[in-house]
Amino acid sequence: MTEPRGKRQNIMTENSISLSTHNGIVIPDNWAGYNLDVFSLPSHYCEDLECVFIPHGVIEDRTERIANEIMKDLGDNHITVLCVLKGGYRFCTDLVEHIKNLSRNSERFISMRVDFIRLRSYCNDTCMDEMQIIGGDDLSKLSGKNVLIVEDIISTGRTMSALLSHLGKYNPKMVKVASLLVKRSDSNNGFKPDYIGFEIPNKFVVGYALDYNEHFRDLHHICVINENGKLKYKV
Ligand code: HPA
Ligand code: MG
Repeated sequence: MTEPRGKRQNIMTENSISLSTHNGIVIPDNWAGYNLDVFSLPSHYCEDLECVFIPHGVIEDRTERIANEIMKDLGDNHITVLCVLKGGYRFCTDLVEHIKNLSRNSERFISMRVDFIRLRSYCNDTCMDEMQIIGGDDLSKLSGKNVLIVEDIISTGRTMSALLSHLGKYNPKMVKVASLLVKRSDSNNGFKPDYIGFEIPNKFVVGYALDYNEHFRDLHHICVINENGKLKYKV
């Protein structure tokens, strides 16, 4: 007998990958990633990285699937995508592109506008106490709208909880959150996004727009930074 779909866990082991709609692809603590020399990477980063943790192609395919789920849930609506800068820009661009393609090729139609918000919550690899909004569009435009927040990573959950409570003041009609990554960490406040790409162990990852003090955003793959990299780019 097959297990009901929603109950199945989507686990990436060293040998296999399985599925859960809720946690995304779960990458276990013992996942060692891929050697740096089996993928193409800018040579100036090689000394600063431990491994390729999630290759770009896997991110792309997972993003397409999330776009599919969003279409199923929210198709036939107008949504305002709120991209959380800077880390969310790659995921947001790819997600919006997939949603547009699906919308073009199906009976369901989703109309979108994309707004931006810029937050600051990290210095080196440590979360700061306060989430600060340091730029972006006028949030009063979100009043009465269906909002899809697109974020790169949920780590402590504090930034997203603070953002959601701030957005609540503008009375949006609905708010959903899509995060490419969710980190398993003791300091996680239990916040769970509606759409998750991958659940990852408590490691500091960079690439695909995720940064360490503004470095590594241009990396194609999601990689784990090593101690050398942390030291080199510390502020
Ligand atoms: N990488 C980049 N930014 C982050 C991370 C991370 O692992 N965790 C929280 N913000
Ligand atoms: Mg972010």
